[in-house]
Amino acid sequence: MVGHEIPLSVSWEEDRLLLLDQTRLPGEIVIEEQVSVEQVWRSIKELKVRGAPAIGIAAAYGVLVGMDLSNVADFSAEIRTRTDYLSTARPTAVNLFWALQRMRDKLSDCRELTDRESWAVLLEEAKKIHQEDREICRRIGELGRPLIKENMNILTHCNAGSLAVSELGTALAPIYLASREGTGVHVYADETRPLLQGARLTSWELQQAGIPVTLICDNMAAHLFSRGRVDMVLVGTDRVTANGDVINKIGTLNLAILANHYSIPFYVACPSSTVDMKIASGTEVTIEERDGQEIRQMAGVPTAPEEVAVFNPAFDMTPAGLVTGLITDRGILRPPLQASLAETFGSG
Ligand code: MRU
Repeated sequence: MVGHEIPLSVSWEEDRLLLLDQTRLPGEIVIEEQVSVEQVWRSIKELKVRGAPAIGIAAAYGVLVGMDLSNVADFSAEIRTRTDYLSTARPTAVNLFWALQRMRDKLSDCRELTDRESWAVLLEEAKKIHQEDREICRRIGELGRPLIKENMNILTHCNAGSLAVSELGTALAPIYLASREGTGVHVYADETRPLLQGARLTSWELQQAGIPVTLICDNMAAHLFSRGRVDMVLVGTDRVTANGDVINKIGTLNLAILANHYSIPFYVACPSSTVDMKIASGTEVTIEERDGQEIRQMAGVPTAPEEVAVFNPAFDMTPAGLVTGLITDRGILRPPLQASLAETFGSG
Protein backbone atom coordinates (compact mmCIF):
# COMPACT_ATOMS: atom_id res chain seq x y z
CA MET A 1 0.00 0.00 0.00
CA VAL A 2 1.21 3.57 -0.62
CA GLY A 3 0.00 5.31 2.49
CA HIS A 4 -3.54 5.87 1.35
CA GLU A 5 -4.69 2.31 0.88
CA ILE A 6 -3.94 1.95 -2.81
CA PRO A 7 -2.25 -1.34 -3.62
CA LEU A 8 1.04 -1.20 -5.50
CA SER A 9 0.82 -1.95 -9.21
CA VAL A 10 4.27 -3.60 -9.32
CA SER A 11 6.36 -5.09 -6.55
CA TRP A 12 9.41 -7.33 -6.24
CA GLU A 13 9.41 -9.44 -3.12
CA GLU A 14 11.79 -12.27 -2.27
CA ASP A 15 12.81 -12.64 -5.90
CA ARG A 16 9.21 -12.76 -7.06
CA LEU A 17 7.55 -10.27 -9.42
CA LEU A 18 4.05 -9.41 -8.22
CA LEU A 19 1.59 -7.47 -10.37
CA LEU A 20 -1.74 -6.08 -9.31
CA ASP A 21 -4.24 -7.29 -11.93
CA GLN A 22 -5.76 -3.94 -12.89
CA THR A 23 -8.35 -5.58 -15.15
CA ARG A 24 -10.08 -6.86 -11.99
CA LEU A 25 -10.39 -3.44 -10.34
CA PRO A 26 -12.39 -2.01 -8.73
CA GLY A 27 -14.24 -5.23 -7.93
CA GLU A 28 -11.36 -7.31 -6.66
CA ILE A 29 -7.78 -6.78 -5.54
CA VAL A 30 -5.87 -9.64 -7.11
CA ILE A 31 -2.09 -9.78 -6.92
CA GLU A 32 -0.66 -12.17 -9.47
CA GLU A 33 2.84 -13.64 -9.28
CA GLN A 34 4.59 -13.65 -12.66
CA VAL A 35 6.45 -16.87 -13.27
CA SER A 36 7.57 -16.54 -16.88
CA VAL A 37 8.57 -13.85 -19.34
CA GLU A 38 5.62 -14.92 -21.51
CA GLN A 39 3.25 -14.26 -18.62
CA VAL A 40 4.75 -10.78 -18.13
CA TRP A 41 4.31 -10.10 -21.88
CA ARG A 42 0.64 -11.10 -21.64
CA SER A 43 0.12 -9.04 -18.48
CA ILE A 44 1.37 -5.96 -20.34
CA LYS A 45 -0.59 -6.75 -23.50
CA GLU A 46 -3.82 -7.42 -21.60
CA LEU A 47 -3.40 -4.30 -19.42
CA LYS A 48 -3.15 -6.21 -16.16
CA VAL A 49 -0.27 -3.82 -15.68
CA ARG A 50 -0.72 -0.55 -17.54
CA GLY A 51 0.29 3.08 -17.47
CA ALA A 52 3.58 4.02 -19.12
CA PRO A 53 5.92 4.00 -16.08
CA ALA A 54 4.40 0.83 -14.56
CA ILE A 55 4.80 -0.99 -17.89
CA GLY A 56 8.49 -0.04 -17.98
CA ILE A 57 9.11 -1.17 -14.40
CA ALA A 58 7.26 -4.47 -14.90
CA ALA A 59 9.19 -5.16 -18.10
CA ALA A 60 12.54 -4.44 -16.44
CA TYR A 61 11.83 -7.07 -13.77
CA GLY A 62 10.15 -9.25 -16.40
CA VAL A 63 13.45 -9.71 -18.20
CA LEU A 64 14.66 -11.72 -15.17
CA VAL A 65 11.55 -13.67 -14.29
CA GLY A 66 11.51 -17.48 -14.43
CA MET A 67 15.05 -17.76 -15.73
CA ASP A 68 16.61 -21.18 -15.07
CA LEU A 69 20.25 -20.16 -14.76
CA SER A 70 21.43 -23.78 -14.74
CA ASN A 71 20.00 -24.13 -18.22
CA VAL A 72 20.98 -20.91 -19.99
CA ALA A 73 23.55 -21.44 -22.76
CA ASP A 74 24.40 -17.74 -23.30
CA PHE A 75 23.18 -15.32 -20.64
CA SER A 76 23.64 -12.12 -22.70
CA ALA A 77 21.91 -13.64 -25.73
CA GLU A 78 19.04 -14.79 -23.51
CA ILE A 79 18.63 -11.28 -22.06
CA ARG A 80 18.65 -9.75 -25.53
CA THR A 81 16.02 -12.24 -26.72
CA ARG A 82 13.85 -11.43 -23.72
CA THR A 83 14.14 -7.65 -24.11
CA ASP A 84 13.31 -7.94 -27.83
CA TYR A 85 10.31 -10.09 -26.99
CA LEU A 86 8.96 -7.87 -24.19
CA SER A 87 9.31 -4.78 -26.38
CA THR A 88 6.63 -6.24 -28.69
CA ALA A 89 3.97 -6.26 -25.97
CA ARG A 90 2.73 -2.71 -26.67
CA PRO A 91 4.06 -0.11 -29.14
CA THR A 92 3.26 3.37 -27.84
CA ALA A 93 4.58 4.06 -24.32
CA VAL A 94 8.27 4.87 -24.69
CA ASN A 95 8.91 3.80 -21.07
CA LEU A 96 8.74 0.16 -22.17
CA PHE A 97 11.59 0.56 -24.68
CA TRP A 98 13.50 2.93 -22.40
CA ALA A 99 13.47 0.47 -19.47
CA LEU A 100 14.35 -2.52 -21.65
CA GLN A 101 17.22 -0.59 -23.24
CA ARG A 102 18.58 0.19 -19.78
CA MET A 103 18.51 -3.51 -18.94
CA ARG A 104 20.38 -4.35 -22.17
CA ASP A 105 22.91 -1.59 -21.62
CA LYS A 106 23.66 -3.01 -18.18
CA LEU A 107 24.96 -6.20 -19.83
CA SER A 108 28.16 -4.34 -20.59
CA ASP A 109 28.91 -4.37 -16.82
CA CYS A 110 28.55 -8.16 -16.75
CA ARG A 111 31.29 -9.31 -19.12
CA GLU A 112 33.56 -10.72 -16.41
CA LEU A 113 30.76 -12.10 -14.23
CA THR A 114 29.11 -15.47 -13.78
CA ASP A 115 25.51 -15.80 -14.94
CA ARG A 116 24.26 -15.65 -11.37
CA GLU A 117 26.25 -12.49 -10.68
CA SER A 118 25.01 -10.96 -13.94
CA TRP A 119 21.42 -11.74 -13.01
CA ALA A 120 21.97 -9.96 -9.68
CA VAL A 121 23.47 -6.91 -11.43
CA LEU A 122 20.46 -6.71 -13.76
CA LEU A 123 18.10 -7.07 -10.82
CA GLU A 124 19.78 -4.07 -9.17
CA GLU A 125 19.17 -2.11 -12.38
CA ALA A 126 15.46 -3.04 -12.40
CA LYS A 127 15.21 -2.01 -8.74
CA LYS A 128 16.93 1.27 -9.62
CA ILE A 129 14.43 1.98 -12.40
CA HIS A 130 11.67 1.26 -9.89
CA GLN A 131 13.16 3.48 -7.17
CA GLU A 132 13.88 6.31 -9.62
CA ASP A 133 10.23 6.27 -10.64
CA ARG A 134 9.15 6.72 -7.01
CA GLU A 135 11.41 9.77 -6.75
CA ILE A 136 10.32 11.16 -10.13
CA CYS A 137 6.64 10.90 -9.18
CA ARG A 138 7.27 12.67 -5.89
CA ARG A 139 9.18 15.42 -7.69
CA ILE A 140 6.37 15.88 -10.24
CA GLY A 141 4.00 16.10 -7.30
CA GLU A 142 6.09 18.74 -5.56
CA LEU A 143 6.69 20.82 -8.68
CA GLY A 144 3.08 20.61 -9.84
CA ARG A 145 1.58 21.17 -6.41
CA PRO A 146 1.63 25.03 -6.56
CA LEU A 147 -0.65 24.87 -9.62
CA ILE A 148 -3.40 23.38 -7.46
CA LYS A 149 -5.41 26.13 -5.80
CA GLU A 150 -8.11 25.91 -3.15
CA ASN A 151 -11.49 24.67 -4.46
CA MET A 152 -10.17 23.85 -7.91
CA ASN A 153 -12.07 21.51 -10.19
CA ILE A 154 -9.61 19.42 -12.19
CA LEU A 155 -10.53 17.17 -15.08
CA THR A 156 -8.33 14.14 -15.74
CA HIS A 157 -8.46 11.41 -18.36
CA CYS A 158 -7.53 7.73 -18.19
CA ASN A 159 -5.41 6.87 -15.14
CA ALA A 160 -2.13 8.62 -14.42
CA GLY A 161 -2.30 7.91 -10.72
CA SER A 162 -0.63 5.55 -8.32
CA LEU A 163 -1.83 2.52 -10.26
CA ALA A 164 -0.02 3.66 -13.42
CA VAL A 165 3.40 4.05 -11.80
CA SER A 166 5.52 2.87 -8.86
CA GLU A 167 3.38 4.89 -6.44
CA LEU A 168 1.71 8.33 -6.16
CA GLY A 169 1.24 8.91 -9.90
CA THR A 170 2.18 11.59 -12.39
CA ALA A 171 -0.95 13.66 -13.13
CA LEU A 172 -2.48 12.73 -9.79
CA ALA A 173 0.73 13.35 -7.79
CA PRO A 174 0.24 17.14 -7.40
CA ILE A 175 -3.38 16.49 -6.46
CA TYR A 176 -2.42 13.95 -3.79
CA LEU A 177 0.18 16.28 -2.30
CA ALA A 178 -2.14 19.31 -2.36
CA SER A 179 -4.89 17.29 -0.72
CA ARG A 180 -2.54 15.94 1.99
CA GLU A 181 -1.58 19.54 2.77
CA GLY A 182 -5.25 20.41 3.23
CA THR A 183 -6.06 22.09 -0.08
CA GLY A 184 -9.65 21.34 -1.05
CA VAL A 185 -9.62 19.94 -4.56
CA HIS A 186 -12.24 18.15 -6.62
CA VAL A 187 -11.52 15.90 -9.59
CA TYR A 188 -13.70 15.05 -12.57
CA ALA A 189 -12.63 11.64 -13.89
CA ASP A 190 -13.39 10.92 -17.51
CA GLU A 191 -14.77 7.41 -17.85
CA THR A 192 -12.22 6.71 -20.64
CA ARG A 193 -13.84 4.39 -23.14
CA PRO A 194 -13.35 1.66 -24.12
CA LEU A 195 -11.45 0.10 -21.20
CA LEU A 196 -12.69 2.50 -18.53
CA GLN A 197 -9.39 3.33 -16.84
CA GLY A 198 -11.00 6.54 -15.54
CA ALA A 199 -14.10 4.84 -14.19
CA ARG A 200 -12.50 1.68 -12.85
CA LEU A 201 -9.12 3.00 -11.73
CA THR A 202 -8.93 6.79 -11.30
CA SER A 203 -12.25 7.24 -9.55
CA TRP A 204 -11.44 4.22 -7.38
CA GLU A 205 -7.97 5.29 -6.31
CA LEU A 206 -9.08 8.87 -5.61
CA GLN A 207 -11.97 7.55 -3.54
CA GLN A 208 -9.55 5.32 -1.61
CA ALA A 209 -7.46 8.42 -0.91
CA GLY A 210 -10.50 10.38 0.25
CA ILE A 211 -10.30 12.93 -2.57
CA PRO A 212 -13.68 14.13 -3.88
CA VAL A 213 -14.16 12.73 -7.37
CA THR A 214 -17.03 12.87 -9.84
CA LEU A 215 -17.17 10.40 -12.68
CA ILE A 216 -18.32 11.62 -16.10
CA CYS A 217 -18.71 9.96 -19.50
CA ASP A 218 -16.13 11.12 -22.04
CA ASN A 219 -18.75 12.99 -24.09
CA MET A 220 -19.75 15.21 -21.15
CA ALA A 221 -16.55 17.26 -20.94
CA ALA A 222 -17.66 19.97 -23.41
CA HIS A 223 -20.80 20.55 -21.41
CA LEU A 224 -18.80 20.96 -18.18
CA PHE A 225 -16.34 23.33 -19.84
CA SER A 226 -19.17 25.42 -21.30
CA ARG A 227 -20.66 25.81 -17.81
CA GLY A 228 -17.36 26.94 -16.29
CA ARG A 229 -17.15 23.87 -14.08
CA VAL A 230 -13.54 22.94 -14.87
CA ASP A 231 -10.51 25.06 -13.87
CA MET A 232 -7.75 22.87 -15.24
CA VAL A 233 -7.17 19.74 -17.28
CA LEU A 234 -4.35 17.55 -15.96
CA VAL A 235 -3.39 14.34 -17.75
CA GLY A 236 -0.48 11.94 -18.06
CA THR A 237 1.33 10.84 -21.19
CA ASP A 238 2.86 7.79 -22.83
CA ARG A 239 5.39 9.70 -24.90
CA VAL A 240 6.38 13.31 -25.47
CA THR A 241 8.38 13.91 -28.64
CA ALA A 242 11.16 16.46 -29.19
CA ASN A 243 8.76 19.10 -30.50
CA GLY A 244 6.47 18.76 -27.45
CA ASP A 245 3.70 16.69 -29.03
CA VAL A 246 1.93 14.59 -26.42
CA ILE A 247 0.79 11.03 -27.01
CA ASN A 248 -1.76 9.91 -24.44
CA LYS A 249 -4.92 7.85 -24.04
CA ILE A 250 -7.43 8.21 -26.85
CA GLY A 251 -9.70 11.14 -26.04
CA THR A 252 -6.93 13.38 -24.69
CA LEU A 253 -6.89 15.38 -27.94
CA ASN A 254 -10.62 16.08 -27.61
CA LEU A 255 -9.97 17.56 -24.17
CA ALA A 256 -7.01 19.64 -25.36
CA ILE A 257 -9.05 21.17 -28.19
CA LEU A 258 -11.94 21.89 -25.84
CA ALA A 259 -9.69 23.36 -23.17
CA ASN A 260 -8.12 25.60 -25.78
CA HIS A 261 -11.56 26.71 -26.99
CA TYR A 262 -12.67 27.60 -23.46
CA SER A 263 -9.26 29.04 -22.41
CA ILE A 264 -8.78 26.44 -19.69
CA PRO A 265 -5.18 25.47 -18.79
CA PHE A 266 -4.19 22.08 -20.19
CA TYR A 267 -1.27 20.53 -18.29
CA VAL A 268 0.53 17.26 -18.94
CA ALA A 269 2.50 15.48 -16.21
CA CYS A 270 5.53 13.90 -17.83
CA PRO A 271 8.30 11.93 -16.11
CA SER A 272 11.69 12.21 -17.81
CA SER A 273 11.39 8.50 -18.72
CA THR A 274 8.47 9.45 -21.00
CA VAL A 275 10.37 12.10 -22.98
CA ASP A 276 11.53 10.77 -26.34
CA MET A 277 14.00 13.26 -27.79
CA LYS A 278 14.94 10.80 -30.54
CA ILE A 279 11.59 11.32 -32.26
CA ALA A 280 11.01 14.70 -33.86
CA SER A 281 7.22 14.81 -33.78
CA GLY A 282 4.21 12.88 -32.54
CA THR A 283 3.14 11.92 -36.07
CA GLU A 284 6.06 9.44 -36.11
CA VAL A 285 4.85 7.51 -33.04
CA THR A 286 3.09 4.19 -33.57
CA ILE A 287 -0.41 4.41 -32.16
CA GLU A 288 -1.51 1.08 -30.76
CA GLU A 289 -4.70 -0.33 -32.29
CA ARG A 290 -6.46 -2.84 -30.12
CA ASP A 291 -8.94 -5.65 -30.68
CA GLY A 292 -12.39 -4.56 -31.83
CA GLN A 293 -14.01 -6.78 -29.21
CA GLU A 294 -13.06 -4.13 -26.63
CA ILE A 295 -15.66 -1.88 -28.29
CA ARG A 296 -18.24 -4.46 -29.40
CA GLN A 297 -18.60 -5.68 -25.85
CA MET A 298 -18.53 -4.38 -22.34
CA ALA A 299 -17.47 -6.78 -19.58
CA GLY A 300 -18.20 -9.62 -21.99
CA VAL A 301 -21.74 -8.40 -22.76
CA PRO A 302 -22.36 -7.54 -26.45
CA THR A 303 -23.11 -3.83 -26.96
CA ALA A 304 -22.93 -3.83 -30.78
CA PRO A 305 -23.68 -6.20 -33.65
CA GLU A 306 -21.26 -9.13 -33.53
CA GLU A 307 -19.51 -8.47 -36.83
CA VAL A 308 -19.60 -4.66 -36.96
CA ALA A 309 -16.39 -3.03 -38.16
CA VAL A 310 -14.56 -1.25 -35.35
CA PHE A 311 -11.65 1.21 -35.20
CA ASN A 312 -9.95 1.04 -31.82
CA PRO A 313 -6.86 3.27 -31.48
CA ALA A 314 -5.66 3.29 -27.87
CA PHE A 315 -3.91 6.67 -28.02
CA ASP A 316 -4.01 10.01 -29.80
CA MET A 317 -1.61 12.88 -30.32
CA THR A 318 -2.11 16.32 -28.85
CA PRO A 319 -0.04 18.89 -30.75
CA ALA A 320 2.43 20.83 -28.61
CA GLY A 321 0.60 24.08 -29.38
CA LEU A 322 -2.38 23.00 -27.26
CA VAL A 323 -0.30 22.31 -24.12
CA THR A 324 -0.10 24.98 -21.42
CA GLY A 325 2.79 23.26 -19.65
CA LEU A 326 4.61 19.96 -19.15
CA ILE A 327 5.04 19.13 -15.47
CA THR A 328 8.28 17.15 -15.51
CA ASP A 329 10.48 16.04 -12.64
CA ARG A 330 12.99 18.64 -13.85
CA GLY A 331 10.61 21.57 -13.74
CA ILE A 332 7.47 22.84 -15.43
CA LEU A 333 8.26 23.36 -19.10
CA ARG A 334 6.45 26.16 -20.89
CA PRO A 335 5.93 26.89 -24.58
CA PRO A 336 7.67 26.91 -26.92
CA LEU A 337 8.01 23.30 -25.78
CA GLN A 338 10.52 22.29 -28.43
CA ALA A 339 13.03 24.81 -27.06
CA SER A 340 12.18 24.07 -23.41
CA LEU A 341 12.59 20.32 -23.97
CA ALA A 342 15.91 20.77 -25.78
CA GLU A 343 17.17 22.98 -22.97
CA THR A 344 16.09 20.50 -20.27
CA PHE A 345 16.75 17.15 -21.91
CA GLY A 346 19.35 17.90 -24.59
CA SER A 347 19.00 16.19 -27.95
CA GLY A 348 18.36 12.73 -26.49
O1 MRU B 1 -3.67 1.96 -22.09
P1 MRU B 1 -3.13 2.47 -20.78
O2 MRU B 1 -4.09 2.31 -19.66
O3 MRU B 1 -1.76 1.89 -20.48
O4 MRU B 1 -2.93 4.02 -21.03
C1 MRU B 1 -2.34 4.79 -20.01
C2 MRU B 1 -2.35 6.25 -20.27
O5 MRU B 1 -2.75 6.69 -21.31
C3 MRU B 1 -1.77 7.12 -19.20
O6 MRU B 1 -2.34 8.39 -19.25
C4 MRU B 1 -0.25 7.26 -19.40
O7 MRU B 1 0.34 6.01 -19.53
C5 MRU B 1 0.38 8.00 -18.30
S1 MRU B 1 0.49 7.04 -16.83
C6 MRU B 1 1.36 7.91 -15.67
